[in-house]
Amino acid sequence: MSPHVRILRPDEYRTAHTLFGQALHAAPADDERWARSSALYVDGRTLGVDGDAAADGTPVLAGTAMSFPTRLTVPGGASVPMAAVTRVGVRADHTRRGILSALMRAQLEDVARRGEVVASLRASEARIYGRFGYGVATRGRDVEVRSHAPLRAGAPRSGAVRMITAEEARADLPALYERIHAASAGPGAMTRAAGWWELMLHRSASTTTASGYAVHRGPDGDDGHVVWSVENKGDAFGANVLRVGDLQAANPAALTGLWRFLLGVDLAESVAAHLRPLTESVELLLEDPRSCAVTGVGDETWLRLVDVAAALTARSWGDAEPVRIRVHDRLLSANDTVHVVGEKGVVDPDGSAELECDVAGLAMAYLGDRTPSELAAAGWWTAHDPTAVARADALFAASTVPWCGTFF
Ligand SMILES: CC(C)(COP(=O)(O)OP(=O)(O)OC[C@H]1O[C@@H](n2cnc3c(N)ncnc32)[C@H](O)[C@@H]1OP(=O)(O)O)[C@@H](O)C(=O)NCCC(=O)NCCS
Repeated sequence: MSPHVRILRPDEYRTAHTLFGQALHAAPADDERWARSSALYVDGRTLGVDGDAAADGTPVLAGTAMSFPTRLTVPGGASVPMAAVTRVGVRADHTRRGILSALMRAQLEDVARRGEVVASLRASEARIYGRFGYGVATRGRDVEVRSHAPLRAGAPRSGAVRMITAEEARADLPALYERIHAASAGPGAMTRAAGWWELMLHRSASTTTASGYAVHRGPDGDDGHVVWSVENKGDAFGANVLRVGDLQAANPAALTGLWRFLLGVDLAESVAAHLRPLTESVELLLEDPRSCAVTGVGDETWLRLVDVAAALTARSWGDAEPVRIRVHDRLLSANDTVHVVGEKGVVDPDGSAELECDVAGLAMAYLGDRTPSELAAAGWWTAHDPTAVARADALFAASTVPWCGTFF
């Protein structure tokens, strides 16, 4: 029998948060951290499964998952309502009994009922979420750049960078992000909840020796910001790595200005940044491109298309004739049909299909991260008509490589 999932009461959120932390091997939040963490919980959206009672009869929460509402930008510039799924954990003494599966099923049904078109999460391990229809839809690049690496003479140069205090960051960065987002959000970008900022700014201030905040001002006003923390690698002065926690820029000049600033900070060996856009080629700004080491490429957004027809309607398509795709979805049956891609939300349950994939495979192409031909070659998609793959490549192509840039 599937475990019973219930909506947790607000007075149970802290227990749920402690359970989630424990599953990730983190200590329980103290009162100050809890005050910040609690802001992300939205009533009615935190699910739990009760476990075996303790020896003295005390009830035990065995698993939890929650989501908060955001919006996702899709190719073409429209945005759709998105459930940001997080704080998923099952007690180690209750794992592999189907608790996560029950939570994921109940959560997807709830998200669908709310009319949210997609759900998204960040995965602690890559083997957990595919079975629930999540696929990697954006990826990022990790870089480490030698401090004081000179920038090329031709690198964009305009505007100025000023450092701000933590209080100013808390007061000003949310509105600055909203402005940058409204003006330049590409596919994969998301809106940020107020509670998200509290957590991010607090995390960067509390986990390392120091943190910093700076804003870039261009000809039209503030157009970029960076938040970083400092990791001291030893006792020696200068054995520091500046770790970028959040870097957003509305244009190439702001981006270059912020990198120029970070690389110029004294008493540091390098600047490290995690999951930057695949197309943010810092090496192209440098006199010595080898001063920028690419230390990894990893999955960023795990995307679940909850309402496939609405998701397909929301994004724009490249210039090609429509293609008929049989989508398989074993959890949300409304998606489990033939979709005519390139036409607005058309489903054709009795029609034949040229291509076939499951809903996770569709999510991998949806924002433009992977091409249908790449997915077909790897067995994620099946082509019944080989000419349809090239058409699908043209339809799904997005002019900007997708990236989210918001960790939650
Ligand atoms: C990941 C986690 C939530 C799984 O919970 P669970 O209740 O054991 O999962 P289920 O019993 O529902 O497992 C469902 C299936 O997924 C598989 N699975 C679950 N976790 C897995 C993992 N970490 N790696 C590989 N497979 C996994 C199970 O083997 C099972 O497969 P089956 O249906 O073929 O038997 C739990 O192990 C946990 O809390 N881990 C630590 C915290 C964490 O990683 N949280 C996620 C934060 S993003």
